[in-house]
Amino acid sequence: MTSEEFVAALDAENQARLRALEPDATLTPEVKGPLNVPNLLKVALRNEAEATLIAARWLAASDDIKLMLALARQAADEAKHYELIAKRLGQLGFDADTFDPLAGGFGPLSKYLESLTSSVERVAAGQFTREAIAIVKNRQFIEFCERVGDKETAALYRDIIEPDERHHHELGRRTLLRLATTPEAQAAAQRAARRTLELADELQKKALATAGIHHAPGC
Ligand SMILES: [Fe+2]
Ligand SMILES: [Fe+2]
Repeated sequence: MTSEEFVAALDAENQARLRALEPDATLTPEVKGPLNVPNLLKVALRNEAEATLIAARWLAASDDIKLMLALARQAADEAKHYELIAKRLGQLGFDADTFDPLAGGFGPLSKYLESLTSSVERVAAGQFTREAIAIVKNRQFIEFCERVGDKETAALYRDIIEPDERHHHELGRRTLLRLATTPEAQAAAQRAARRTLELADELQKKALATAGIHHAPGC
């Protein structure tokens, strides 16, 4: 199939799987204890730090000028998100300078992304799919912030972070249209996208089981 047909099919498959990531309303735990905006923003800091580093490593390893620029744009945006989230945490009484989100190393999803070696897999997993997951997770996080009355954090995500993550997903789409042109490249891209969604699903189930978290923002 053409890359246009492939990307449309992959998008449809991702969207169907993403619907399974949406929490069932009846499972929504009461918001209490540690499930609050600052603790969720600390999860976000870690996600943004990992996303910055992965995009920067892929950028340094890329000899495709368009992909290089797309990754440079993404790395800069994720670093900007980190800064904005750290600033918001400061306003909420948490000094992010005392916190090293990468102290424990990469989480399972970033470890998987790091293991990918071809551009088509990297883009399918890291931009096209991971950023599609972020769009869903950030929408849930914005709703959570509004529910607990944190309009400022909701606005930060709605007005700045969310449009950037959407742009990263579109960068992934454009690159896939250029690179997913052979049956082998398409199969590799599909495998990488599926594994990314599986890992995101496993991580979400674990977070829900251990901390009642299912509103953690993505990037
Ligand atoms: Fe981000
Ligand atoms: Fe992003």
